[in-house]
Amino acid sequence: MLREGGLVAFPTETVYGLGGNALDATAAARIFAAKGRPQDNPLIAHIADIAMLDELCYDIPDIARKIAARFWPGPLTMALPKREIVPDTVTAGLRTVGIRYPAHPVAQELIRAAGVPIAAPSANRSGKPSPTAFAHVLEDMDGRIEGIVDGGDADVGVESTFIEFVNGKVRILRPGYITPEDLAEVVGTENVEIDPAVLRGIGADEQPRSPGMKYRHYAPSAPVIAVLGENAACARAILRGVRGKAGAAAILCDEYAHLMPCTTVQVGRYGDYAAQAQRLFDALRELDRPEISVIYAQCPDDRGVGLAVANRLKRAAGFHVIEARRMLVLGLTGSTGAGKGLVSQALREQGAVIIDCDRVYHEMLASDEALLSDLRENFPAAFADGGFDRKALGRIVFGDEAQLARLNAVTHPHIRRKIAELLKNLEAGGTACAVIDAPTLFESGADADCDFVIGVTAEPALRKSRIMERDGLTEEYAALRIEAGKPDAWYREKCDFMIENNHAPGEAISAALDIYNTCSI
Ligand code: TXA
Ligand code: MG
Repeated sequence: MLREGGLVAFPTETVYGLGGNALDATAAARIFAAKGRPQDNPLIAHIADIAMLDELCYDIPDIARKIAARFWPGPLTMALPKREIVPDTVTAGLRTVGIRYPAHPVAQELIRAAGVPIAAPSANRSGKPSPTAFAHVLEDMDGRIEGIVDGGDADVGVESTFIEFVNGKVRILRPGYITPEDLAEVVGTENVEIDPAVLRGIGADEQPRSPGMKYRHYAPSAPVIAVLGENAACARAILRGVRGKAGAAAILCDEYAHLMPCTTVQVGRYGDYAAQAQRLFDALRELDRPEISVIYAQCPDDRGVGLAVANRLKRAAGFHVIEARRMLVLGLTGSTGAGKGLVSQALREQGAVIIDCDRVYHEMLASDEALLSDLRENFPAAFADGGFDRKALGRIVFGDEAQLARLNAVTHPHIRRKIAELLKNLEAGGTACAVIDAPTLFESGADADCDFVIGVTAEPALRKSRIMERDGLTEEYAALRIEAGKPDAWYREKCDFMIENNHAPGEAISAALDIYNTCSI
């Protein structure tokens, strides 16, 4: 089939390739058509002995030969000056052609049997994840090509490391199973460069070194968010992302997968980059379903083969990457008299550090110059005697919604700034869990600083008697305070967890501990 200009997909150790005769411009054109591939994105040629390299390329630098001797056959492709015999259609007009000598025995036998080098991009429809299984190829290519050779699942799972040679150095245009560290062993660390586009997106006005860098790739139809960080921190960030979201899905390492309340694909143990490489594309394909609305995916760091996995994942995510924080931050809010203090005390006993926002605010009123100067500007009457008069400010806003809204607009950003500062210090000091305790957590926007928010409510009658007892208020006044607050339904809608404190305090405390255990992965 190949000799007659047909297209045959075949297994390699990296991913399946969509093969056609690399010396036949018509076959190459059919490859572009079958994949739906942009015309300016060149194909790579697969060979099955070193003599074929010299038939296709010239001016081969010594370091290329050294690298070939070390890593071929294997998951590495080199761009080298092409001879006339390689049609321009294959290289999309470039003067170099990518050459790969795959290690897979079926690929080698196929190339030898065909007797020609085989041009083969990954055997996926353009934009989809590369195929690592026979079923993937069938899904994308059935009816578009002459045949598929079934070789089982690919071992490596991400495409070959793609390198070019610039001024005697090796530049990595696409990371793969052969790592920068591996290449450095042959040519020295000082002679290995990683193209900047490997680590970040390509700007619209930038000219990529490799045409493939500029295309959206590997992406399922739902948006992907890559989550970077330590294992437990990633799991928590993913849990935060997927909780309560219809159609949310997760791709993550084995250890915390069982905690996810959503469709979840496991990709091997944390730090096992090879396993993650092998499973990533299959995971992305599995989650390419209409009912999936968003995919949170744990992203490895850039060490070893992690670089290749992170590169594919970040591209699948369109470089939407979030950093998972080590410290757990809980928000705590609720209606007055519901028993927020009880929960806060229970969390403190678990070792959490409580940021009491009422107290923070009062301390700031005493000493925070930036806040005081904004207050002076907006409420000069509260500074009638020169100094700040809290009672005077209270009189201005009491019962006046517009003034109260104005006060909140002034104070909330300052409180947010202070909370951010406190969280930063706690994180730096190694605190495992911080709790932002604020009656107006949502109104101030501080819920955005939290991983999860706990709301505490109780029956109004209970709350009334609690406030009367706690604050020594009359019944009418307590009722007014309750009426001024938000209804329970409001908390239920906004909070991640609710504690209904209608019974013995012990029940609320044990509910708080359950929530704490769920969140503190
Ligand atoms: O592992 C692999 O390399 C797989 C298997 C089938 O061998 N093949 C593969 O090919 O991934 P493909 O076409 O999907 O990816 C090759 C990438 C493309 O992004 C292309 O833009 C780039 O290599 N490329 C090809 N020729 C190039 C050249 N002469 N200079 C720079 N980049 C080139
Ligand atoms: Mg490809």
